[in-house]
Amino acid sequence: MEMLFNSPLSSEKANLLISLLELSDQSHVIDVGCGTGEFLSRVLETYPAKGVGVDILSESLEQAQANAKRKSVSDRIEFHESDIQKFEATKLFDCGICMGSSHAYSMGEPAYRETLQGLGSLIRPDGLLLIGESFWTVDPKKEYLDFIGDPVGTYRSHQENVELAVEMGFLPLYATTSTLDEWDDFEWRHHMRIEKRAEESPDDVELGKRREFGRRWRAAYLKWGRGTMGFGFYLFKKP
Ligand SMILES: C[S@@+](CC[C@H](N)C(=O)[O-])C[C@H]1O[C@@H](n2cnc3c(N)ncnc32)[C@H](O)[C@@H]1O
Repeated sequence: MEMLFNSPLSSEKANLLISLLELSDQSHVIDVGCGTGEFLSRVLETYPAKGVGVDILSESLEQAQANAKRKSVSDRIEFHESDIQKFEATKLFDCGICMGSSHAYSMGEPAYRETLQGLGSLIRPDGLLLIGESFWTVDPKKEYLDFIGDPVGTYRSHQENVELAVEMGFLPLYATTSTLDEWDDFEWRHHMRIEKRAEESPDDVELGKRREFGRRWRAAYLKWGRGTMGFGFYLFKKP
């Protein structure tokens, strides 16, 4: 049960977002919390640019390397296994991406603001930031917040995600949101993957616990989450 992205993002919407970047052979792109690198590799498939992917998880980066190789972009891409807080950039980038990875910058309410600040600091003036971040489409029920626990990970509306960036001096160029189909695909693929893995290894206690949690998560998604939590993709220009 492969997942292209670890975000509620379809292949078509990823390509749409990439088409907005209009990069050149001189462009340098950084993807913070790049995961298995699908998005960054696609950016380099589309443009003759150079890319840097940073992630804290070595297993994800192994997949990212393999992915880049399959897409014939590995000669223009570097992956760094690092906590972004410790990553030292040697140059400013033309474009910074952070999809569903704002927790790399900070946990809880400050995470999105610190992503704008941290990712922004890696980008040259007039450069681009593409950020994927959750939001509430309607006020969440208390039971749902209690179920998720602390940190909830979502703190603003779609409008507030845009407005905070404006307050910080960024220029919004484009925004779109995940459809319900993209959310369902994301949630159910996770669910199916855990069910399948737990079934294949019935003696694995850890997998058994993950399956139990996955089932509770699925119930909470259907009861409260579906249609309550949104996910936005925001393209900003740095002043
Ligand atoms: C929800 S996944 C999103 C992955 C990818 N951007 C995507 O959309 O498919 C979040 C990623 O952030 C990475 N991450 C978490 N904390 C990090 C940190 N402090 N520094 C770098 N990466 C981090 C995780 O390992 C994970 O790959």
